[in-house]
Amino acid sequence: MKEKSGFSGQIGFVLAAAGSAVGVGNLWRFPYLAAKDGGGLFLIVYLCLVLTFGFTLLVSDIAIGRKTKKSCINAYALLKPSWKGLGVLTFFVPVVIMTYYSVIGGWITKYLTVYMTGKAEAVANDGYFDHFISDPQSSCYFALFFLILTAVVVYNGVEKGIEKFSKFVMPVLLVLIIAIAIYSLFLEHTDASGTARTGLQGFVVYLKPDFTGMTFEKFVNVLLDAMSQLFFSLSVSMGIMITYGSYVKDEVDLNKAVNQIEIFDTVVAFIAGAMIIPAVYCFSGTEGMNGGPGLMFISLPKVFNEMGPVGSIIGLFFFLTAAFAALTSCVSVLEAVTANCMELFDVSRRQATVILTLIYCVATAVISLGYSTFRMEIPLPNGSEGQLLDLMDYISNSVMMPFISLLSCIFIGWVLSPKTVTDEMEKNGEKFGRKGIYNVMIRFIAPVIMLVLFLQSVGLLEKLE
Ligand code: PHE
Repeated sequence: MKEKSGFSGQIGFVLAAAGSAVGVGNLWRFPYLAAKDGGGLFLIVYLCLVLTFGFTLLVSDIAIGRKTKKSCINAYALLKPSWKGLGVLTFFVPVVIMTYYSVIGGWITKYLTVYMTGKAEAVANDGYFDHFISDPQSSCYFALFFLILTAVVVYNGVEKGIEKFSKFVMPVLLVLIIAIAIYSLFLEHTDASGTARTGLQGFVVYLKPDFTGMTFEKFVNVLLDAMSQLFFSLSVSMGIMITYGSYVKDEVDLNKAVNQIEIFDTVVAFIAGAMIIPAVYCFSGTEGMNGGPGLMFISLPKVFNEMGPVGSIIGLFFFLTAAFAALTSCVSVLEAVTANCMELFDVSRRQATVILTLIYCVATAVISLGYSTFRMEIPLPNGSEGQLLDLMDYISNSVMMPFISLLSCIFIGWVLSPKTVTDEMEKNGEKFGRKGIYNVMIRFIAPVIMLVLFLQSVGLLEKLE
């Protein structure tokens, strides 16, 4: 049996877990949803949910990891052998995510290199993004490059690889987004029609709760958006936080650690909104805020170009931030897969990383070619059509994650007992502050929410209406 590696202490763990949680979801998805769902209204709903629902899922994953000292497959098996299947199912989430995450990382790296060479104008052109992703060679090379970077960090181990890297990257990321957000607030622009807008006005749009046209149905949609965002953003229910939790020393106060991870993730998302919404508002009004890759790879480059020469530098900083955020997240996904494989096949970290990297080189290449050689329009249950990447994303995030969360709430809340988790939180005599909320959430509220999210994403909710 190999010696169990781990984080050196609380800070290393918190920064690595925050590194996983803070990703492209914080940088583009959160600001886009906030703009779409009534600004401050979304912020309030999101905050309430982080403190209750998000917290419940995060605590469960981390506590199970530390209690069992195992990755998800063995962790669930150890808690109750007949529930091993849940561990296996959970394991497949990072397995699927890993097939496409490097492709997105590759897109970011490509944009970073373009800004490094000062070609801000070129990327602002219509069609640049589509042209790039449909070029089989370029998109594939960048994706593979990103995958190799990820693999190097994982290969170096928990303390010397993941922890060391996160301790360097996360503070830099925080400084960068704060700097860009401050710059964003002071922007001023007058467009061709003579309308003048400022960054501060955009900031007000972001903060002010907007209830215009609000109906009960719309509010439910805001709730569902906030919930799925939260879930994705905290990297819960995919075995990642179980694996990271298994590396935490017994002396660490998990209450403090969980609070810090939640705060880090939410603060970064909030500042990302303060950086993007004012800038997009200033240059293109609220219409510029479309979702998906469009915001990050099409609208923002236009905004940076409008800013003139400074725009190249801001663009460079932005894509550097995004690259860091994506890399620490990708590392956590590969780590979750690697850690499970090390336990399953009793191989060393190095062997596992090398073999997995080879497999994922093939998978990543295939997914990146999904926009050229293997292009197809795959109908998804929610009514939209997508390419291979969208399909993988849909399977992992919209179908598997809510379903796994639902099962794990039932498992902890009803099959075992919430005490399994709450005892771990109070292991060293700490006080588990939100224990009451935890008990109610895990048994009653979270399972219902997860069921609704799951039904919605597989398209059953509409059919029932
Ligand atoms: N939590 C990351 C984000 O907010 C996304 C992520 C998803 C990371 C899945 C790892 C695995 O962007």
